[in-house]
Amino acid sequence: MLSKKLEKLLNEQIEIESNSSYTYLAMASWCEINGMEGAASFFYNQSDEERIHMLKLFRYINEKGGVAITPVNKKPKMDYKNILEVVKAFYEHEKSVSQAVNKLVYMANEDKDYTTLNFLQWYVSEQHEEETLARTLLDKIKLIGMEANGLFLIDNEIGKYATMKKQTSVNMGNEDN
Ligand code: FEO
Repeated sequence: MLSKKLEKLLNEQIEIESNSSYTYLAMASWCEINGMEGAASFFYNQSDEERIHMLKLFRYINEKGGVAITPVNKKPKMDYKNILEVVKAFYEHEKSVSQAVNKLVYMANEDKDYTTLNFLQWYVSEQHEEETLARTLLDKIKLIGMEANGLFLIDNEIGKYATMKKQTSVNMGNEDN
């Protein structure tokens, strides 16, 4: 049984993950419109993954006897100056999600809710992976630079990560998503 406080925080995390999905969908769209197909694929995949993160939480709350609340999404930022700004925003966003996950872990620990603590470990690992990936992309953009054919190379680089990451699946039994 979830404590009311933890249930509220888990529901807030549902909103965070859902908003992440729409934030990355808008980034994918920006990349696509601006001729960066590799980066667009990457952010479309990210958007799908975030929806899966949201669904895992949604189902967990209900399984534990709580009530999962269908999230209301904020309108995501649609416009960016350039790809550097997009990837910077991606990195900052992931850092803020990690903080929210840490808060959840802290609360589950306070509640001595070891099942939820165990459930949240997956998010801790996922956040570590995503923050590292975002920082890697940012470093690559800085290294390549956006002059001359830099944008073409950056798009290729980001696109590689889209194909490296496994195709996402809405199969909730797939723990690797
Ligand atoms: Fe599910 Fe990367 O936030």
